[in-house]
Amino acid sequence: MELTETIETILAHRSVRTYRSESLSEAHLQLLTEAMRRGPSSSALQNYTVILITEQDLKEQLARLCGNQAYIAQCPLFIVTCVDLRRVEKAALARDYPYRASDLRILLSATEDVAIAVQNASLAAQSLGLATVMIGGVMNGSREIAALLGLPPRVAPLLGLCVGYSDEDPKVIPPRPRLPKEVVFHRERYQLSEREEERLLDRHDQEVISSGFYHARHIPFDELFPAASVDPVGPDGYGWTEHVARKQARLWWEGATEKLWEDFEAMGLRLRRE
Ligand SMILES: Cc1cc2nc3c(=O)[nH]c(=O)nc-3n(C[C@H](O)[C@H](O)[C@H](O)COP(=O)(O)O)c2cc1C
Repeated sequence: MELTETIETILAHRSVRTYRSESLSEAHLQLLTEAMRRGPSSSALQNYTVILITEQDLKEQLARLCGNQAYIAQCPLFIVTCVDLRRVEKAALARDYPYRASDLRILLSATEDVAIAVQNASLAAQSLGLATVMIGGVMNGSREIAALLGLPPRVAPLLGLCVGYSDEDPKVIPPRPRLPKEVVFHRERYQLSEREEERLLDRHDQEVISSGFYHARHIPFDELFPAASVDPVGPDGYGWTEHVARKQARLWWEGATEKLWEDFEAMGLRLRRE
């Protein structure tokens, strides 16, 4: 089957977390902007706002607010993409129309718009020989980032993208593993028994364990149970399922969930049921 350049770019994807200091040209910034604009959007509402950030001081503050992710300060361009529930509401209210839309529904479709725009920027960047990593950590400090960037009410930072020239050796960091196709993709109907799913995931775990992928990526057991002194799972048992199980079980979630509700409310999103 013919591999187009677009498909080759998609298949060569990997996230990069070490960047050279070399800045991007204005032409690069314009191309990434156009790639984001061209993405489809739900009902053509284009419910997003994008801030392109190259100032070092701002990037350093953002790196801290996104959960201390140093590569945000290191990359020459950090793109913050926000869900924007303000622009279309203003159009309705300016005509004295009621705003009957559901913020929850609009937030979900705006999130889809944001993801498409950011993925377009990421692929466009990679097709230009640049490297990227998406930053969901923006949600950790959404309200603080909104204040730092001077965003109007009802515009909430959601997803970031680091862009720059990679300083990673692709031979040292091979493409990240993916789940077996049979676990995720089905033809016509869902076709996987729980037992078959467990067998496939178990095999996948064994493969990623022997590849060493999770060696330096363990989530420490005391992030789940601070009083525990011994991790009951050794390196030979730490595969994909152990990793994602630990991600869901982190104590971090308790504060983070409440903060997200408070942040969204403070930014003017009306999501809780009355
Ligand atoms: C919505 C989204 C949010 C992400 N947030 C972060 C993040 O905050 N920090 C980070 O280092 N990587 C982040 N990533 C990158 C993922 O960790 C990465 O895509 C995944 O591990 C697979 O690796 P690959 O992209 O190299 O194939 C994010 C990816 C997506 C799609």
